Amino acid sequence: MTDQTGTKAVPGLGVVVMAAGQGTRMRSNQAKVLHRIAGRPMVLYALDLARRLAGHSVAVVVGHQAEQVRAVLQAAIAGVADAAPVHIVEQRQQLGTGHAVLQTRDVFAGKKAPSAYLILNGDTPLLQDTTVRELLRAHQSSGATVTMLTVVLADPTGYGRVVRRQGAGESGDVIKIVEHRDASPDERAIHEINVGTYVVDGAFLFAALEKVQPHNAQGEYYLTDIVDMAVRQGHRVSALQLTSPDEGLGVNTRRQLADAEHVIRQAIRRRWMDAGVTMIDPASTWIEAGVTIGKDTVLYPNVTLEGTTTIGEGCELRSFTRVTNCAVGNQVTVLDHCVFAESQIESHATLGPFVHLRPGVLIRQKAKVGNFVEMKKTELGEGSKANHLTYLGDATIGKGVNIGAGTITCNYDGVHKYKTIIGNNVFLGSDTQLIAPVTIGDGAVIAAGTTVTEDVPADALTIARVSQVNRDGWAARRRALLVKDAATPAKPVTQAAPSKRGSNKKKRR
Ligand code: UD1
Ligand code: MG
Repeated sequence: MTDQTGTKAVPGLGVVVMAAGQGTRMRSNQAKVLHRIAGRPMVLYALDLARRLAGHSVAVVVGHQAEQVRAVLQAAIAGVADAAPVHIVEQRQQLGTGHAVLQTRDVFAGKKAPSAYLILNGDTPLLQDTTVRELLRAHQSSGATVTMLTVVLADPTGYGRVVRRQGAGESGDVIKIVEHRDASPDERAIHEINVGTYVVDGAFLFAALEKVQPHNAQGEYYLTDIVDMAVRQGHRVSALQLTSPDEGLGVNTRRQLADAEHVIRQAIRRRWMDAGVTMIDPASTWIEAGVTIGKDTVLYPNVTLEGTTTIGEGCELRSFTRVTNCAVGNQVTVLDHCVFAESQIESHATLGPFVHLRPGVLIRQKAKVGNFVEMKKTELGEGSKANHLTYLGDATIGKGVNIGAGTITCNYDGVHKYKTIIGNNVFLGSDTQLIAPVTIGDGAVIAAGTTVTEDVPADALTIARVSQVNRDGWAARRRALLVKDAATPAKPVTQAAPSKRGSNKKKRR
């Protein structure tokens, strides 16, 4: 182990991530490590850390809902090629953290076995790279066999307590870790807890784990028992105490999940503010871990950016807008109350208020989409506008097109979806329906109220609506008739003879 201070992998370091537990205290049908924090499954925080540090390889122990956890891990691994290799190991029965680590023995076996192991709990997502590097440095400089991370908590309930040699002339060295359920009243009064992050000498780890016995309140093989074992064999155990209690947070309950979410979201916001993003009200601005934002972008209160969304520079996103897995260019303006998913918006476009982009939309440069417009699998060309009360689905729309208010692509016949193709510089009047499949040539004009059922040639005018009829004086005559009607007492229906007025009535219906 030579590089423990920088940002590089640590030569000879094997890393184990324990992620097989069910997480009973979460009271969930989903494995604990799959619960999301700032949009990312919890286990990926430990995986990232492991891959940054491992100079040898990483072993992740899965068990409860192994297939789902494996799938999440594999998807994450596929995205990063230059980090340490990751082996996914199954712990068929969750017999405890000591048993979990023991399952990884074969991964590291061989001539070039790791000189040391870093062991991480899969439920400690706030742990920082720099802290773990410091732990590795402390391990090397103290010559200890086991070096562990501890923290002093105001409320240590539920955590393993760190028991040190006490009394006059004693070293204060760690002698054992006692789990909450096994602790005596005196031990429960200890506020220094085990974070669940350990560096262990290569030669010691697996030999010690083999000897761990499940003699405790839970009947489990505790990894923490290797501390007591090392001490009894005359080895040194040293501890590094965290100064920030947040970092050591172990997520076992929904409350702790919410606490972790709070801390990570705050860190994400600070990172983007440091990178030049304005947040008018940071506390109500929700940015998930996988999002990137360009400088001089302004986020108004209650904006939510999710998934793999990228926002360019100099954009303005007004309140109550949610953007999920979208690519947004530079200088894009998004007014209030928009929902965008899996879509692309090029630079200088303006959207909103109340725009819904469903997956597969491409808004080209300088296009405008506004006021209650829904789009799906549609390209809107450069400078084109769809500003009012419109549905555009499965459509390709050229440049400089005006989509009139109330335009609808009728793309669905109840079974199949069909495409609408609109050329450049087309003018669609208001209340146009386009019965797909249909193609409209460049420069065509579609008169308001038209239902387009057939292709339209370039530069044509298309009108498909009932011709207007004006009847001079009709309205005045009708009014007079109605007034006269109101003045005449009603006659019983059975006595009424058919009259001119009666036939009029029928016509009105
Ligand atoms: C553990 C420590 C405790 C420490 C706390 C810090 C032990 C015995 N106790 O307790 O001293 O204060 O973490 O957060 O290690 N896991 C497996 N297989 C198993 C059991 C657990 O892979 O058979 C995994 C879990 O998925 C989890 C991690 O190990 O990611 C820790 O397990 P958990 O049950 O949360 O242990 P704690 O009770 O929190
Ligand atoms: Mg835990």
